[in-house]
Amino acid sequence: MLSDAVPSLRCPVCRGPFGLSGAAPLSLVCVAGHSFDAAKQGYFNLLTGKGTVFEADTAEMVAARDDFLGAGHYAPLAEAIAEEAAPVLSVPGSLVLDSGTGTGHYLRTVLERTPAAAIGIDISKFALRRAARLNPGAVNLVWDIWRPLPIADHSVDAIIVVFAPRNPRNSPASCVQAAG
Ligand SMILES: C[S@@+](CC[C@H](N)C(=O)[O-])C[C@H]1O[C@@H](n2cnc3c(N)ncnc32)[C@H](O)[C@@H]1O
Ligand SMILES: [Zn+2]
Repeated sequence: MLSDAVPSLRCPVCRGPFGLSGAAPLSLVCVAGHSFDAAKQGYFNLLTGKGTVFEADTAEMVAARDDFLGAGHYAPLAEAIAEEAAPVLSVPGSLVLDSGTGTGHYLRTVLERTPAAAIGIDISKFALRRAARLNPGAVNLVWDIWRPLPIADHSVDAIIVVFAPRNPRNSPASCVQAAG
């Protein structure tokens, strides 16, 4: 469920914990009152300030990737990642982070095999529109992985990074990491 990952989120403004509030739209509201509404597709944009210098994937790029992955070309890779992550994510209360989740394709295969809570992060809102549809039980966040993650320290059990930029400072060695 989406709410399972919320206790592990941290406000990008003050690092305080978040709670979920409201119905439509749902909002993430921290203890200091900083509030982020869900987009109508279900993801949350936590980027504040003037945004990022990185260029996000466009709607066309995301659609092309979705078509390619939907055709099953990389299904063996998705299976291998899910298999690698499954042991640690079978523990009740575990949490997986998909950093650079894109359309959520690989996270979906992981979540089909485990009951873990999940967070998907991507800089592209076009990607997250699809990711939020594919993985409605995950918290999908617009965020820039070159910034400190809006996630509590020591709360993630497995990180998957598939064909996405990797920031080693955001990937503690104690986690299972399945990187494509
Ligand atoms: C090649 S795609 C891979 C997406 C997905 N993991 C997959 O394999 O289908 C790379 C992804 O990284 C995201 N990305 C690039 N720079 C990023 C950043 N600074 N922060 C977060 N995501 C980023 C892009 O928007 C894109 O969705
Ligand atoms: Zn706050």
